[in-house]
Amino acid sequence: MTAPSSSESARETATVVRVPLGARSYDIHVGRDLLAQAAALMAPVLSQKRVFIVTDSNVAPLYLAPLTQALTNAGIRADHAIIPAGEASKDFDHLAKLLDAMLAAKCERGTMIVALGGGVIGDLAGFAASVLMRGVDFVQIPTTLLSQVDSSVGGKTGINTAAGKNLVGSFHQPRLVIADTDVLATLPRRELLAGYAEVAKYGLLGDADFWAWLEKNGAAALDGGHAALREAIVTSCNAKAKVVAADEKEGGVRALLNLGHTFGHALEAEMGYGGNLLHGEAVAIGMVLAFELSARLGLCPAADAARVRAHLKAVGLPVDPPRHSTRGAITPAMLIAHMSQDKKMKDGAVNFVLARRIGDAFMSRDVPATALEATLTAALAS
Ligand code: NAD
Ligand code: GLY
Repeated sequence: MTAPSSSESARETATVVRVPLGARSYDIHVGRDLLAQAAALMAPVLSQKRVFIVTDSNVAPLYLAPLTQALTNAGIRADHAIIPAGEASKDFDHLAKLLDAMLAAKCERGTMIVALGGGVIGDLAGFAASVLMRGVDFVQIPTTLLSQVDSSVGGKTGINTAAGKNLVGSFHQPRLVIADTDVLATLPRRELLAGYAEVAKYGLLGDADFWAWLEKNGAAALDGGHAALREAIVTSCNAKAKVVAADEKEGGVRALLNLGHTFGHALEAEMGYGGNLLHGEAVAIGMVLAFELSARLGLCPAADAARVRAHLKAVGLPVDPPRHSTRGAITPAMLIAHMSQDKKMKDGAVNFVLARRIGDAFMSRDVPATALEATLTAALAS
């Protein structure tokens, strides 16, 4: 895999999506060839001509040099740290090493932290920025589809601990998000699909027209149709920006973004975080289960659940839970046990996002255990 050269990618005006959060508002730039324009895009939010780039061992060989070049050409000093690629790096150990590296480089309060990578780097670098010298600014340069449409927007940062995923972290909004769609050309197909699950989520939870658009254009977006991919990213960022603006700290409506995640997190916990089941893949299966549970409860037409399953399957995402983990056959009871440890529990009840139809999701805390078990039993038997 080689990174596309800037000459291959047509220069075009980026689309700007605003995340309106008062004094903490910021722009998401979506478009081609934006790494080359990083210095100009960052200029308004830099308080000194210094940045510290955090990236991972897969992204560094592809994009660290072009980004550093673009910045140094503009007189911006760019130090960096390269973290081993993978979810395992989102832990206390790598956080400590990263903070040490930032301090060893003599980062100052005005030094901008730049997260160049997928959600792992965004979450880790963002969390480091939120605690370095009691909080410094950071910029997100997301390089996976998942991070461009979800994790780079909204300010959730954090790491995993032995007790579970993302249990230690902070809300720390970036000053700017630069989503260069050209970098997605080097993303492995499986990772692109995992990101597509989060794109599809926005249609399913609140935008039936977008879902219908994805049914028509999603495959083209995934197959390199640049205009379609860009439209999917922009629509997703607009959706996320709207939800985050309404409920920054997830006191209410932001929880809808967890559509598919209660099931998905249980599957991820059961399968381990070593790449057997990617987060987006787990979310895809989880969204199908959420719609099938809603249909079983008589809340949503069965035809809508069938549409969800059919489209996600057609683009190549998994739609049924894996049958086995390293512990042996997966049972509904094992998944329900994971759900009961979910951090979104409130007063001992699991929070589900259910749907009335495609494009109309809602939160529910009173899902009958029998319906949940029957949905999981049917899915595990399929
Ligand atoms: P990731 O960061 O692990 O990236 C996936 C893989 O793609 C990695 O191997 C990475 O090195 C590689 N990669 C990244 N960009 C590439 C490129 N352009 N070309 C080639 N390879 C590239 O995973 P992810 O799916 O981006 O993010 C998952 C993480 O995001 C999880 O830790 C999850 O908890 C977190 N997340 C956070 C939020 C949030 O709101 N903060 C939301 C959703 C997910
Ligand atoms: N990815 C869920 C959220 O940002 O709230």
